[in-house]
Amino acid sequence: MTATRATILLDQLASVYDEVLPFFAGFARQHMAWVAPGPGTRVLDLGAGRGALTGAALAHGCRVTAVDCAAGMVERLADRYPRVHEARVMDVHQLDFPDGCFDLVCAGFVVHLLDDPAAAAREVRRVLAPGGVFSFSVPGDVEDAPEWEFYGALFREFQPLIPEGQGRLSRPLDAERLLSAAGFTGIGGTAIEQRLPVPDADTFWDWGLSHGSRAYFDALPADARTEFEARVRAELSAMDPIVFAAGARLWRGASAA
Ligand SMILES: C[S@@+](CC[C@H](N)C(=O)[O-])C[C@H]1O[C@@H](n2cnc3c(N)ncnc32)[C@H](O)[C@@H]1O
Repeated sequence: MTATRATILLDQLASVYDEVLPFFAGFARQHMAWVAPGPGTRVLDLGAGRGALTGAALAHGCRVTAVDCAAGMVERLADRYPRVHEARVMDVHQLDFPDGCFDLVCAGFVVHLLDDPAAAAREVRRVLAPGGVFSFSVPGDVEDAPEWEFYGALFREFQPLIPEGQGRLSRPLDAERLLSAAGFTGIGGTAIEQRLPVPDADTFWDWGLSHGSRAYFDALPADARTEFEARVRAELSAMDPIVFAAGARLWRGASAA
């Protein structure tokens, strides 16, 4: 497997990932509610991280297999979810599973990080049983949260200070085209949002350093990072309580029956 900036950073962050605020866990519950698998559904959680979707699928009574290329993530997922059927270190571009052995393959905030999403989508199709579903989430927008517009605006403002090839891990993705090119049908999407209570500004800043956005902060020159942090804290000081509003987009497609 070729290590990428994303895989290296996320492996390093495994001990804190989704522990500061239950951000990915919150979206995973909504994701699984949208797909609504029945008990006994054979689920593959792709790029499972610490198991946000695994936990949500187990709560639906599914039989869950989880894979991630980061050993530190897989180890923690297996500790937290002893009911997981199998948790393995694996590259999603080359799935070590036979054809047609899953009913649902889900991926939370993974596909937009991949080197070759088309190759991964073809692998997903291969391991899905006829009529099986591939669903995944990507970052999205939030409506009616003007108090949080400052956060995205700060990322855009400081972007010119980031050296080329560094910074944010997300890559542009045309989800609909990805699914149709891989042969999925019944393609659809929906927007979801969550509003997460944040105890204080320290917690919010620590959260920003505990997942993929860390790549952006680490790429900023030291004085710019200090200024970015100060401006975030100034905005948060005007919020009481602090409730973080964030959006995501869910996508799904079916394998021919
Ligand atoms: C943003 S995290 C999302 C984790 C989890 N799905 C969630 O919703 O919290 C992205 C995960 O994808 C994994 N990942 C990235 N590229 C991968 C690849 N090529 N093969 C397997 N896992 C990969 C990372 O190690 C990381 O755990």
